[in-house]
Amino acid sequence: MAESGFESAEILGAIREASSAEALEELRIKVLGRRGSLTLAMKGLGALPPETRKSAGAALNTAREEIATAFAEAASRLSRAALEQRLLAEKRDPSLPVAFAEEGRIHPITETIDEMIAIFGEMGFAVVEGPHIEEDFYNFTALNIPPEHPARQEHDTFYLPPRGDGTRLLLRTHTSPMQIRTMLKEKPPLRIIVPGRAFRCDHDATHSPMFHQIEGLVIDRQTHMGQLKGCLVEFCRAFFGLDDLPVRFRPSYFPFTEPSAEVDIGCSRQGGELKIGKGGEWLEILGSGMVHPRVLQNCGIDPALYQGFAFGMGVERVAMLKYGIPDLRAFYECDWRWLKHYGFLPLDIPSLVRGPLS
Ligand code: DAH
Repeated sequence: MAESGFESAEILGAIREASSAEALEELRIKVLGRRGSLTLAMKGLGALPPETRKSAGAALNTAREEIATAFAEAASRLSRAALEQRLLAEKRDPSLPVAFAEEGRIHPITETIDEMIAIFGEMGFAVVEGPHIEEDFYNFTALNIPPEHPARQEHDTFYLPPRGDGTRLLLRTHTSPMQIRTMLKEKPPLRIIVPGRAFRCDHDATHSPMFHQIEGLVIDRQTHMGQLKGCLVEFCRAFFGLDDLPVRFRPSYFPFTEPSAEVDIGCSRQGGELKIGKGGEWLEILGSGMVHPRVLQNCGIDPALYQGFAFGMGVERVAMLKYGIPDLRAFYECDWRWLKHYGFLPLDIPSLVRGPLS
């Protein structure tokens, strides 16, 4: 070893005792760096007399291997120590009291729509959604509401400014235009529900300019009123969780259905308190009917081959009835105290736990 002027014993000792990664790196540079002691000794081999060069070279190679092993061992010893130290410093005390994070709530509208989707989903309905900004054709004309039809006045439509060709887009006044869009796009049989927003220029204690509806449409061969009744009775009973809930079909009028029926559920009002169920009184909750043959024709469906039924329901209204929410306006105020009272915990999803048909 002395032949090359390089002594490894001291270096090996220093490597084994290095107390940090930085100290180890300093040593590495001192020994193996460009101007390190071992590097220089290797370079100096050429200057040695030939008779000592060979043995000096072999000794330096052995020293280099020993040093490399020592460095690797020291590095892993230091990283193990660092990890142990971190684990010690980050130790958790599981006996400490828990600091609960503030939880959010599912809005009753979202919850109600989820419940409806679960019930109709079990009956084989698919969910579709559509645009809030609509064309007159889908919102009115194709639904058998031509330009001079009185039903247009009832809808208090929000119109957008006229386009270049004079026509105006509008905010859909109901979810029914999705009946038309679906029938034009897809071939029967169809079984869809359409949850979503609708807009009417109407604002008081029981009306909001933006509200939610859920639309239903079934198109198939030989569809009849009995199926409409069966489907909606089943829905009402599942939704309100009452197997014997009285459900009544009352003749009505909608331009896009013939015959049309409004659906009432049984209730009682005693001492100003409304109770859903048997009780001899009635509450209207939705509109329905057999799809008008002209609506089918407008969508290229032959009424001699296919018939269908449709229905539409206000989400806020049934949510208020089911959950005893007294004021419509509170739905949109985003008052955290209200949401904490009427909202739902994310994991408390009755629609997933309580099967509507079981
Ligand atoms: N579109 C109606 C409304 O907004 C609700 C409705 C009634 C929808 C009867 C239907 C239906 O599909 O068949 O008042």
